[in-house]
Amino acid sequence: MSKLDLISSWEFTDAPESTNHIKLKTRYDLFIDGEFVTPQSRKYFDTTNPATNEVIAEIASANKKDVDKAVKSARKAFKSWSKLAGKERGKYIFRIARMIQERAREFAVIESMDGGKPIRESRDIDIPLAANHFFYYAGWADKLEYAFPNKTPKPLGVAGQIIPWNFPLLMAAWKIAPAIACGNTVVLKPAETTSLTALKLAEIIQESGLPKGVVNIVTGAGNTGAEIVNHPDIDKIAFTGSTNVGKLIQKSIAGTKKKSTLELGGKGANIIFEDAAIDQAVEGIVNAIFFNQGHVCCAGSRLFVQESIAETVIKKLKDRMSSLIIGNPLDKNTDIGAINSKEQLATINKYIKIGQEEGGEIYQSKCSISKKGNWCPPTLFLNVSQSHTIVQEEIFGPVLAIQTFRTIDEVIEKANNTPFGLSAGVWTEKGSKIFKLTQELNAGVVWANTYNKFDPTSPFGGFKESGFGREGGLHGLKAYLKFE
Ligand code: NAI
Ligand code: MG
Repeated sequence: MSKLDLISSWEFTDAPESTNHIKLKTRYDLFIDGEFVTPQSRKYFDTTNPATNEVIAEIASANKKDVDKAVKSARKAFKSWSKLAGKERGKYIFRIARMIQERAREFAVIESMDGGKPIRESRDIDIPLAANHFFYYAGWADKLEYAFPNKTPKPLGVAGQIIPWNFPLLMAAWKIAPAIACGNTVVLKPAETTSLTALKLAEIIQESGLPKGVVNIVTGAGNTGAEIVNHPDIDKIAFTGSTNVGKLIQKSIAGTKKKSTLELGGKGANIIFEDAAIDQAVEGIVNAIFFNQGHVCCAGSRLFVQESIAETVIKKLKDRMSSLIIGNPLDKNTDIGAINSKEQLATINKYIKIGQEEGGEIYQSKCSISKKGNWCPPTLFLNVSQSHTIVQEEIFGPVLAIQTFRTIDEVIEKANNTPFGLSAGVWTEKGSKIFKLTQELNAGVVWANTYNKFDPTSPFGGFKESGFGREGGLHGLKAYLKFE
């Protein structure tokens, strides 16, 4: 079969999403106690569009005093918010959900501009799921006693929440919605490269009439995050990000009364058995590793293909990779957008170099890449084994390491041979294999004949160095409650 050549034989007409409906300020302040306030530091930093590296806006940098002000506001608000009837809390949260839906187009465009993800993904996945999280947890606000029968659930207090740059608005929703549904108040810090949609969410929160101080949003880099972690009046830290920072946070809060949930890195195994529906599995491989440029903690970055079908799968995968469109995140044809930052691109390129130096066989699809901005073509590595650095470490980019296996026991052993334990995928026609693997794989989430599917009703989280605690579903409520 000849290789599909969609690049030279097909030309897609540009289909850019319009940006003329977007309202952005040139400078964004901190959202504390229901108001936008200038930072005590008087310092601002730039947020850029990673597809062009042009500056979009200036973002306030919060220091210790700002964080303290936000925590004080949250503490004050906690007194009344925690006593408000669940039904009333739910109304505010429903309102926020509906307002996100109403402004979904604006949010999707800003998410793609600030973070580099394809507009199709922000429009169809990030923003609708963020609204869904608010809807879902709004529904629980007045039913906590039914969620935990024979117990008296009580909120924890003030939650400090620190989120990453790969799903900016969605991670804000994962954190804020369950926390405030349970009667907690929050101080949230978005990641420094992608603060804009969290600040737009602050506008919605202000407009929704949510009592002042229930949600505070402070922007800044890692040091602002550390001020939240170390603040003495925080009851709970919820963090999503790198395993290294997760470890730092654990050290900082050891011996304090602070509770924590940590959602950290991953190195997901995507396992294709010979009886799988091959074409669907190939789509699943693409979705597992190239979705959101591979900036996904649960990405299927290690592919295990049963030996008897390896040749066919790899051929089909290479064909499929050559049809992926990489480029302008705001174009509706785009499959792979920009790498989130120069720093992240340097990390990915470092790993690609290591992969080659350690003897891996690299394949990259041919695609024209703009000179401006941060780009990485979809990449796969063959001839690698368990000991290769690119098989062991999280790359957080569109880079797939492929290995083969013969038996089910062998693949379980290999899949579990990692410091992480966040996610896995299994592709087979046989239900019994699915059950065996879901039992024996050390992963918080195992997808069967699909990958990267998310739903607010479903708990998400990891084992080992992927962290602890669950977000989503009833488990996600539990992490913001104590039982007396
Ligand atoms: P990071 O873990 O440094 O950043 C995540 C968040 O933590 C950001 O809001 C950041 O400002 C904050 N932060 C940084 N240092 C902190 C500290 N000492 N105390 C409190 N908060 C702090 O991740 P980074 O550097 O942006 O990415 C590095 C690597 O981490 C990536 O290459 C990827 O492998 C991994 N990563 C994993 C994520 C996941 O969802 N599992 C998300 C982001 C990154
Ligand atoms: Mg940005």
